[in-house]
Amino acid sequence: MKKSQIRPDYPERSDDPLHEVNMEVNGELITRNVSPRILLADFIRHHLGLTGTHVGCEHGVCGCCTVIIDGRAARSCLTFAVQADGSKIRTVESLAQDDGSLHPLQEAFKESHALQCGFCTPGFLMSIVSQLEETEGEIDLSEDGIRVMLSGNLCRCTGYQNIVKAVQSAAKRMYKTN
Ligand code: FES
Ligand code: FES
Repeated sequence: MKKSQIRPDYPERSDDPLHEVNMEVNGELITRNVSPRILLADFIRHHLGLTGTHVGCEHGVCGCCTVIIDGRAARSCLTFAVQADGSKIRTVESLAQDDGSLHPLQEAFKESHALQCGFCTPGFLMSIVSQLEETEGEIDLSEDGIRVMLSGNLCRCTGYQNIVKAVQSAAKRMYKTN
């Protein structure tokens, strides 16, 4: 089992009535009391201390805050923490192993130079992982198909070309495609 990266507790600073939420986050069961207005992105970052999930636009456009909820990529800036009660959530921290070994997609990003500042990268990784896993690699992996896969995430640095190459390379490793 992975070593916990989740912060043990965090004092809720709101005067709102609190709601108990129970979730599985990166394979670990957690229970917390939260204000109904706290966004899942803020809950993940501030309450759980999992700061790999980034917040950019905060209104559903950039994709930086993407996490996987019950197997599907979702914008954590458009989801309240209470809406995720009872869900299984994966954040970017779930991808690498405790021994430092990276997920094949992370390896491919590294080798293909698919990031520069890296701010957008966690969102790209989680969006791509969810699509590759959900389809078990049975998805259009042509350059055009991958650009459709990436269309929910914005990157201001890379020009996308190396991200496309990284997805092709990762899919080959994960699903032995050509
Ligand atoms: S921060 Fe959620 S989509 Fe931009
Ligand atoms: S690597 Fe900088 S925003 Fe994408």
